[in-house]
Order: sequence, then C-alpha cells, then structure tokens
Amino acid sequence: MKLDSVLISDAVDPACAQLLRENGIQVTQKTKMPLEELLDEIKKHDGLIVRSDTQVTKQVMGNLKVIGMAGTGVDNIDLAAATKKGIIVMNTPGANSISACELTCALILDLARHVSPANSALKHGVWERQSYTGTELYGKTLAVLGLGRIGRQVAKRMQAFGMKTISFDSMISSEAAREFYVEKMELEQIWPLADYITVHMPLIPQTKDLINFDVLNKCKKGICVVNVGRGGIVNEEGLLKSLESGQCGGAALDVFTEEPPRSEGLLRLLAHPKVLATPHLGANTTEAQKRVAVQIAGQFIALNKGSSLSGV
Ligand code: NAD
Ligand code: MLT
Repeated sequence: MKLDSVLISDAVDPACAQLLRENGIQVTQKTKMPLEELLDEIKKHDGLIVRSDTQVTKQVMGNLKVIGMAGTGVDNIDLAAATKKGIIVMNTPGANSISACELTCALILDLARHVSPANSALKHGVWERQSYTGTELYGKTLAVLGLGRIGRQVAKRMQAFGMKTISFDSMISSEAAREFYVEKMELEQIWPLADYITVHMPLIPQTKDLINFDVLNKCKKGICVVNVGRGGIVNEEGLLKSLESGQCGGAALDVFTEEPPRSEGLLRLLAHPKVLATPHLGANTTEAQKRVAVQIAGQFIALNKGSSLSGV
C-alpha cells in the first residue's frame, strides 16, 4: 500500500513525524482541532495517527487507507466502520504497558497511604496526621481484572508489597495465571475477597459498567477501586453512590467516560474526598511516548514499503 500523506491529530511524540518524513511520507501534525476543521483536514490524507483524544467515527474516516493508534486502547476508533470501509487499523500493544502499570501501582499506594490528600492539605497549611492514617498493603488482596500486558505487570509489582493477587480474565487460563503467581477466579468469587480492584481490560460491550453499584455492594466494606483502563469499565454514577454510602472506601481514576470531565455527575465524583484523579496519564511518560511514536511510525513505514504488518 502506498501512503502519500499522514495526519497526526493528537499529541504524539515528534519522533513519529520525523521518522515518517525521513521515509518519504508527508506529515501534518495538528492537535485539538474542532470537528469541522478535522473533517476538512482529513480529506488531504490517506493515513491518520491518533492517541485517545480524537474520536475516529465513520464520518471522520473519509478516504483513509490506514489508522494508527499510538497506544493500546482502540475504543475511540469505530472498528466496525473501518472494517466495512476496508481501512487498516493498527495499534502499538505493549509499548506503554510499563508506564500504565507504574501509574496503577502509584495510585494503589496513594489510596492506601493518602499521599495526595495529605500533600494537598499540608500545602494549604494543615498539619494533620490522624485523619490521614492509612492501611498496609501487606496481606491485602488485589483483584486484577484483565491479566494482559498491563495487569500481569501490576500483579508482579504489588506482590512485592505482600499483596495476594487474584484475577478474572476471559482468555487467560488458570495455569497461565499461576505462572504470574495469580489465582484465576470467577467474578462472583472475587467480589467478597478483594480489598482493591484494578481494571486492565479493553472497553468493549462485555466490560462496560463491569464495576457498578451492585457489584461494589457485593465487595467488602471499604473496597478500593482503581481505573487506569478506560472510562466506562467502572460505572461512574454507581461508584459515586457507593462512595457516598461509605461502602466504597476510595477510588483512583485516570480515565473517564468524558475527557476532560465536564458533566455535573463527573464533577461531583471528582470532588469526592475519597477520589484521586489524574488526567489520563497512564501512558504519559517520556519513555512510553517515544516508544509508541517510533513503533507506530515503523508500522506505517513497513506498510508503505509493502513489508509484513504488525499491530493490526
Ligand atoms: P491486553 O490486551 O494485553 O490485556 C487485556 C486483557 O483483558 C487480556 O488478557 C484479555 O484476555 C482480557 N479481556 C478482554 N476482554 C475481557 C472480558 N470481557 N472479560 C475479562 N477479561 C477480558 O491489554 P493491555 O495492554 O493490558 O491494556 C489494557 C487496557 O488498558 C487497554 O485496552 C487500554 O484501554 C488501557 N490502557 C490505558 C492507558 C492509560 O493511559 N490509562 C494506557 C495503556 C492502556
Ligand atoms: C492507550 O490506550 O494506550 C492510552 O490510553 C493512549 C493515550 O495515552 O492516549
């Protein structure tokens, strides 16, 4: 397949554009375009590279030949529409796994020890020790939902803190899970055992609202939830209700159904004192951003040269 021109519509590391240009492909990088401008711009290109900001709907696809995700999750790309139009969709699995894993671990620790709220209070002049008394992770149970590239790295690191790790994954066998010292279980077995739940599966119809008010009620009182996967896997309304009832003891959220969050419900969730929130930073490290940029550019160049495809 011959590619003449590629549009990069999200904040992808400049290494991507540089590599593409060095290989004879024209590149335009324009981010945060309003829809009208994006629709106008896309007409000039046969390739598109995004992260999770651009919503690649059927309307946006125009006459594209290939769409590249400089990252992992492809839920912002209408895959059914792309398939119908014969557009190749590629991503860069694994290139940002360690970064997403490390943020997850940081958030689990933060939930346990209240680092962020205590820091914020102290910066506002409040020296308060008692109300920021934490809990140890040692001996607690972490449920890793989705034991793929990120989930298994999270399990491995949190085991070093003495956490027991259990998991649900529709495609990983009990034997494979055991290789990572993780016990595979059914969801209904997991709920009453978990002290922390972390989700690392794709956002698909089967995982939407997987963690909801009713599920949280089946968990231990004080259950903590971490979502560095995708907004919508944890039902935000149900989570807020559970936090308000005192059943859920804390939540750390990197991803939201609306990014940036503007709706009243989401702003209430963010404002809850037991919620830690980060603006979709899972993959935002220098290393991961360079890796995904170079990897997706390499995949486009291979496609352009007619070499074998990867990440499709
Ligand atoms: P992966 O494909 O390696 O692992 C996903 C796991 O989920 C697989 O083991 C799969 O078997 C399992 N799974 C799929 N559907 C399931 C279902 N219905 N029920 C149970 N398990 C199911 O993916 P990964 O690299 O670990 O990434 C996971 C997700 O993390 C991505 O899809 C992406 O949305 C998200 N992510 C977020 C960030 C961020 O910046 N916050 C960064 C990277 C990835
Ligand atoms: C991913 O799924 O790889 C990330 O969420 C992409 C991003 O950081 O935009």
